[in-house]
Amino acid sequence: MKIAVLGGDGFVGWPTVLHLSQAGHEVHIVDNLSRRWIDTELGVQSLTPMDSIQERCRVWRELTGIHLRFHLIDVAREYERFKNWLAEERPAAIIHFAEQRAAPYSMKSDRHKSYTVDNNVSATHNVLNAMVAADLDAHLVHLGTMGVYGYGTVRATIPEGYLPVGIKTDEGAVEEREILYPANPGSVYHMTKCLDQLLFQFYAKNDSLRITDLHQGIVWGTNTAETKMHEQLINRFDYDGDYGTVLNRFLIQAAVGYPLTVHGTGGQTRAFIHIQDSVRCIELALKSPPEAGERVKIFNQATETHRVRDLAELVAKMTGAKVACQPNPRKEADENELSVCNKQFLALGLDPIRLEEGLLTEVIDVARKYAYRIDKTRIPCVSGWTKERNAAINVQPGSPRLTAVS
Ligand SMILES: NC(=O)c1ccc[n+]([C@@H]2O[C@H](COP(=O)([O-])OP(=O)(O)OC[C@H]3O[C@@H](n4cnc5c(N)ncnc54)[C@H](O)[C@@H]3O)[C@@H](O)[C@H]2O)c1
Repeated sequence: MKIAVLGGDGFVGWPTVLHLSQAGHEVHIVDNLSRRWIDTELGVQSLTPMDSIQERCRVWRELTGIHLRFHLIDVAREYERFKNWLAEERPAAIIHFAEQRAAPYSMKSDRHKSYTVDNNVSATHNVLNAMVAADLDAHLVHLGTMGVYGYGTVRATIPEGYLPVGIKTDEGAVEEREILYPANPGSVYHMTKCLDQLLFQFYAKNDSLRITDLHQGIVWGTNTAETKMHEQLINRFDYDGDYGTVLNRFLIQAAVGYPLTVHGTGGQTRAFIHIQDSVRCIELALKSPPEAGERVKIFNQATETHRVRDLAELVAKMTGAKVACQPNPRKEADENELSVCNKQFLALGLDPIRLEEGLLTEVIDVARKYAYRIDKTRIPCVSGWTKERNAAINVQPGSPRLTAVS
């Protein structure tokens, strides 16, 4: 099948490209390389040395004989070019990763908020708009986030996208409905993912587009079977305060002898998935598209939940690292419970990779190997959600406060 991977140069996109290519699909990468520009803006780099996308594709071809095509297109800003490309190539499936994906980056300043909204909402709308304009009956698979549900404690398992409700009619009867689970974004980034959901709902209803939205948990790990095939196929690996995700950051911090930065009490419970499972889930979703006219299919793409301080303790126990509590840059509940339904992927055959020491050690080994590339001053989170949070985390701008080292 011909597949377009929008954002195929990114952390989840690149291993997905390789996996689908290895499985025999004709893969086209569409990316504007904005993520690489953001590295330059922030003065950071991936822990792992990434080659250019063209070089990565060349190495893959040399290794496997398979041609990956790369197209430098900004999906948010170059609507006509993207539409014409889509109309010409006519992929059978489109995987949409092409968004600014870091909550802290989205909260850095008013400029970053505007950029994240403009980029993400326009990118998603342009994809949908172009599919209709090009009369393309492709299956669109979008990477959303568990964060659309919010992290308030509800003593009920979070269903996969839709919530059954009873609506009391004017006559006093109760009508059963399934509605989108109430959106409760915790950052501007998460807000864009909530807006994406509405765009999908409208285009599925109005134009019968076939859409799957994957509400993904926090991705951890770095390698997949394919990225391990050659040093130059290595995946990107973010450790900085804006783009590094919590468990990966703990593992890197442990590898370089930096205290594990727990925000607040570390009582936040989050959903997680290993990068290899993330890639597998996308493949499973591709094999199970909705019918035209069906509502948007929503899967929870997460395999387990953990409390942040428990993860810190686990990594500290494994490595001897210290734990340091930092004032929380985010405006969120100090403690929350989280239970997530993921029955659909299990029913499709997903056999989840569990968080266990072997895999954690593998990540630490990668981190140790490239430790010389780490700029420790970039590790702390310096983007506060409000002026008050900014004041609490930064003694002076760019100088985060660590407390309670244990
Ligand atoms: N990494 C995680 O832990 C995680 C968790 C939940 C959901 N997600 C979602 O998965 C998707 C991929 O995440 P990731 O970690 O690979 O992010 P990433 O930033 O590494 O990759 C995103 C890619 O999209 C490209 N891109 C951004 N805007 C674009 C545009 N307008 N036109 C073309 N290309 C554009 C970037 O250059 C980058 O290569 C995101 O949508 C994210 O919200 C990621």
